[in-house]
Amino acid sequence: MVRQLSGNEIDALHYELLVKDITAAAERLPPFPDVAWKIVSLVKSMAPVKEIEALIAYDPAISAKILRMANSVYYGRQYGVRTVREAILLLGDKRLIQVVIAACATLYYGPGNSEDDRDLWEHSINTALLSEIVARLTKQTSILTLYTASLLHDIGKTVLNLYARIYLHTSIHKMSGDKDTIRAERQAIGIDHEKLGGLIARKWKFPSEIVSAIEHHHNPEKAGHHENISSLVYLADNLANYFSEKNAEQRLKVLDAESDSIFKKYAITRKIVEDCRQELKNNLADIARVLGSA
Ligand SMILES: [Fe+2]
Ligand SMILES: [Fe+2]
Repeated sequence: MVRQLSGNEIDALHYELLVKDITAAAERLPPFPDVAWKIVSLVKSMAPVKEIEALIAYDPAISAKILRMANSVYYGRQYGVRTVREAILLLGDKRLIQVVIAACATLYYGPGNSEDDRDLWEHSINTALLSEIVARLTKQTSILTLYTASLLHDIGKTVLNLYARIYLHTSIHKMSGDKDTIRAERQAIGIDHEKLGGLIARKWKFPSEIVSAIEHHHNPEKAGHHENISSLVYLADNLANYFSEKNAEQRLKVLDAESDSIFKKYAITRKIVEDCRQELKNNLADIARVLGSA
């Protein structure tokens, strides 16, 4: 005779099936566009501009974003930049690579979708740009690795948000403050965005330090020998959250650099945090706008 399942057992079964479904959805995400790494490798090997141009011209989304960046206020040009070649030369290696990777990442964050997706994308761009400042403050040299990990640190949320909307009628963003997000996600859905992000990055065959930084950006102390890069993404992520909070009182609840152990470890004081805010506002706001656009 078949034994009847108890209510708790049915709940546990649903929970298990839900986690399996979410994991499978994360694994089904399309691969990160190969063209990004092809362009990065050409730029790094100082290939002739016409080779880089040929690869970029093949991709309308990347071409459009490069032209938009070259024509942004940031570059303050009197005459418009009309060709990809001119744009490549004007941007320089670092910005060119940043624009290419961001253009490829929009595929998953899809600005133009829901308000939550747009907020998540804006947060990702800000975290990526702040990682540039963090790298300078902490004297790091692997800027591209840090930028990529920072840009994609919350990639797991793109999948998790979808399920939170269907099953919980809310978004991961609204479930709790960012500090408790991981625990809240695990309790409500059975899996968190760090774990899902790591799974996606592994599937994309990203280098282990990027996988680890994505997987441990809320808990860098658990990242083993990738603790340093995970901590740097933690710093950029927390700065981005802090700066996006409009209410000054609330802001201290998001981050207090004087009591946060990782900010203390890297000697990033409240004063330095405020300097970072000014730098983001004065020097990087235009870049953030172009990178964040569809
Ligand atoms: Fe996160
Ligand atoms: Fe984040």
